[in-house]
Amino acid sequence: MALLGSVACRPKQPAGAAPSTNGPGSARVAAPLTISFSGAPEAVGAPIGALRRGINLGNGFDAPSEGAWGVVLSETHFEMAKAAGLDHVRLPVRFSTRAQKDAPYTIDPAFFERVDWAVQQALSRGLSIIIDLHHYEELMKQPDSHMDRTVGMWKQIAERYATQPDTVLFELLNEPNGELNPAKNNALIARLIPVIRASNPTRTLIVDSYFWAAPSYLKALELPNDPNIAVSFHMYQPILFTHQGASWMDPEFQTTGIIFPGPGSRVELTAKAKQTSWVRDWMANYFTAPATKNPASPATVAAEFDMVTKYVAATGRRAYLGEFGAIDFADAMSRENYLRLVRREAERRGFAWAVWDDGGRMQAMNVKQKAWVEPVAKALFQDQPSAAP
Ligand code: BGC
Repeated sequence: MALLGSVACRPKQPAGAAPSTNGPGSARVAAPLTISFSGAPEAVGAPIGALRRGINLGNGFDAPSEGAWGVVLSETHFEMAKAAGLDHVRLPVRFSTRAQKDAPYTIDPAFFERVDWAVQQALSRGLSIIIDLHHYEELMKQPDSHMDRTVGMWKQIAERYATQPDTVLFELLNEPNGELNPAKNNALIARLIPVIRASNPTRTLIVDSYFWAAPSYLKALELPNDPNIAVSFHMYQPILFTHQGASWMDPEFQTTGIIFPGPGSRVELTAKAKQTSWVRDWMANYFTAPATKNPASPATVAAEFDMVTKYVAATGRRAYLGEFGAIDFADAMSRENYLRLVRREAERRGFAWAVWDDGGRMQAMNVKQKAWVEPVAKALFQDQPSAAP
């Protein structure tokens, strides 16, 4: 499978001293996870439009140019999403490589037509679609130099889709990170919203929290009192499981053979993983801690969701799980366990979700074969009332 391109690395854990845990042994595959939630369902989230269950059409329009990361969007993407009973797609779009560098930052008309095509593909099938400004990497590195351009691009996007139905949603910026810290992210949001609202007074807008849309940073968001603004969070914890071996992650993430749920048998850590204290610490716990206390456990996932639930209860904002996934270096049973758990946590708390599909190692729909990747389909659809693929 082709490399997915260079992508800013995801959350690093806080540093901390930990015993060395490397040792011989082979990884084992996970056993099926029985999911049992205690207590009453905790649904607190009000629905965001018609969004309930969706999929990201990743690595197509968010690649530097379409096809560069092995994904060219086709009608099949939309057909398969619809046939699976999904109600929306999230469309990651890298506008920043298709717009002029200088004001008024004109977006390439031919590329805009491609986005129009995707919008029509979704709407003609009764799918909602989220236009998500994705991978503006320069903005994360030098926010002050790129804010005007972000505002200029959004002015064009907003005006172009102003007459579309409310099943077209706008997501202002995927995964703010790096130098676009909470203060700067809030400053950017404060500039973007009035510009978008000038042409789209009531369209639903989705805003991601800082640190790759981390639940822990939701509370740092400063948002106007506008009922049509929802927040988004992403769920990739435990990241050493979901991103094991990912080509776009740093060397300390390259230890594979990690199962879900833990504990798993000892695997040899990569050199960089051995040198990185939070990774050693996490691995030590993963190898030894009992299921209930293991860092690769439903409790870890629940703790992330609890932060979102608290935020929603405190603010009344609606929250959207815009991405979750687990790479296929993990064994199929572990992926199925993890994806089902996350999906069901989202549903019982009333959060619409969209699984991440990059057409590569986090593929969900194999469009060439017109077949869903089995563990993903089982996790997402097996206990759903609607038609499963
Ligand atoms: C990034 C992708 C990445 C995925 C999982 C997305 O938000 O844009 O490039 O593959 O997260 O890490």
